[in-house]
Amino acid sequence: MKKYIIIKKKIGNFKKKFIEVEGDKSLSIRFVLLSSLTKGKCYAINLLKSEDVLNAINCVNKLGIKTIFKKKKTEILGRGLFGLKFKKNLTLDTGNSGTTARLLCSLLIDSNYQIRITGDRSLKRRDMKRIIDPLKKFGALFKSKNGKLPLIMKGTKFPRPIKFTENLGSAQCKSAVMIAALKTKGVTKLKCVPSRNHTELMFKNILKIPIKVIRKKKYEIININGQKELKPFNYKIPGDISSASFFIVLTLLSKNKILKIKNVNLNSTRTGVIKVLKMMGGKIKILNLRNYKGEKIGDIMIKSTKKLKSINLSSRYNSSAIDEFLLIFLVACRCKGVSVFNNLAELNKKESKRLDWGIKILSLMGVRVKKIKNSGIKIWGKENFDLNKKITIKNYLKDHRILMVCVIAGLTLGGNWKIYDQNCFKTSFPSFKEILKKLGAKIK
Ligand code: S3P
Repeated sequence: MKKYIIIKKKIGNFKKKFIEVEGDKSLSIRFVLLSSLTKGKCYAINLLKSEDVLNAINCVNKLGIKTIFKKKKTEILGRGLFGLKFKKNLTLDTGNSGTTARLLCSLLIDSNYQIRITGDRSLKRRDMKRIIDPLKKFGALFKSKNGKLPLIMKGTKFPRPIKFTENLGSAQCKSAVMIAALKTKGVTKLKCVPSRNHTELMFKNILKIPIKVIRKKKYEIININGQKELKPFNYKIPGDISSASFFIVLTLLSKNKILKIKNVNLNSTRTGVIKVLKMMGGKIKILNLRNYKGEKIGDIMIKSTKKLKSINLSSRYNSSAIDEFLLIFLVACRCKGVSVFNNLAELNKKESKRLDWGIKILSLMGVRVKKIKNSGIKIWGKENFDLNKKITIKNYLKDHRILMVCVIAGLTLGGNWKIYDQNCFKTSFPSFKEILKKLGAKIK
C-alpha cells in the first residue's frame, strides 16, 4: 500500500452546502479519563473515535475500566475516584497523544505499584517534566530520562494538596494538577497562565465540583477541593473546532465558495483561529450559538474572499489558536503584505516542531518566510499567490496536522503534492479524507 497522499488539482465547486466534523478531541479524552473516576455508568454521544482517543480508552481498560461501544453511544463503567485497578508491571502506551499521557499520570497519583508510561516516536521527544514536577509535589515518584517518555511512576496512598504555578499556558499541565487534586484531602491552589478551560467547565457543570476560578490580569487562580466520590454523567460531544478549521481555510482560500459547518464547539478559549482569520479579512459568521453544560456550541458560516490582509498578531491569541497556526500561516501566504507572529515556542513542542515545519513548508512553496527572535515567524504574502511546483513532504514523525494542512494547501493554492504519511490524519480526524471527497476534492 502506498504511504503518501497525492494532490494534483485544486478543489472545484463544493458538492455540499454544509458539513459536520467529528467530536472534539480534548473533550473526548477528558470524558474517557474523568468518567473512569466516577462511580457508575457514564455515556458519551459522538465521542471521537480517533487513534488518540482510542489510546486513552485502551489505557483505562488496562486499569480495570470497561467500555461498551454502541452505535452513537460510548459507555464507560467508572470504578470510583479511588477504584482504578493498579497491577504490577503494567505498561500503558499512550501512542501519539500528549493529552492522554499527561492527564493519565494524574489518574495514577494513588497507584500502589510502579507503572510504565510510554508513547510513539513523536511523543517520546516531548516534555513530561511539566507534569512530573507538580505530580512529585503531590507525593508521586518518577523515573525518567531527561523528563521524557518512557517513564516509570509510582503513586502515593495519601496524595497531599499542593500549591503550584503553571507558567507555560498548558491546559494539559493545568488539567493534570486539577485531576490529581481530586484525590487529595484538602485544597490545591493553582496559579496559571490562561489556557483552554474544558477541565474547569467539566468539573463545575458536569461533576458538580465547586471549584473557584479567580481571574487576574495575566493569571488565573484555581482552587480545587479534594473529593470523596464523583457521580456518573452523560455528555454529548460537539464538533472539534481544530478539525473544522481545515474546512474554514479550505473555503476561505478557494474561489466563490460558501460552507456551513454545524455543531462546533465554540468555547472562547479555543476560537482564536476564528478571531485571527476574521482580523485577516476572512468572511466568517457564527450562527445558532447556544450553551451546553458550560460549553458554547454553534454553526460556522464561511465565504471565500480575495481580500485578505496581513497581520501583526498579538501573542494574546497564541493559546486559543495554538493547534491552528499552520493553517493561519497558510492564509498569510495569500494576504497582501507582511504578517508577523511572535512567542510561539510552544508550537515547536507539539507532535513535531510545527513552527520549523511552517517555515519549511512555506519555503518549499516558494513563499518568502523567516524565523524571527527564535520563536516567531515573518511571512511575506501575495494577494494572488498560487503555486505550480512539485512538493514532497516527508512527515517523518507522522504529525496529523502537518499532513492535513499540506492537503489543504494543495487543494487551495495549487501545486503537485506528495505528502507522507497518508494515514496519520486518523490521530485526530478519521473522516478528514471522506469529508473532502464528499465536497468534491480529488485525493489519491
Ligand atoms: C490540549 C491542550 C493543548 C493542545 C493539545 C490539546 C488539551 O496542549 O495543543 O492539542 O486537550 O488540553 P498544551 O496543553 O500542551 O498547550
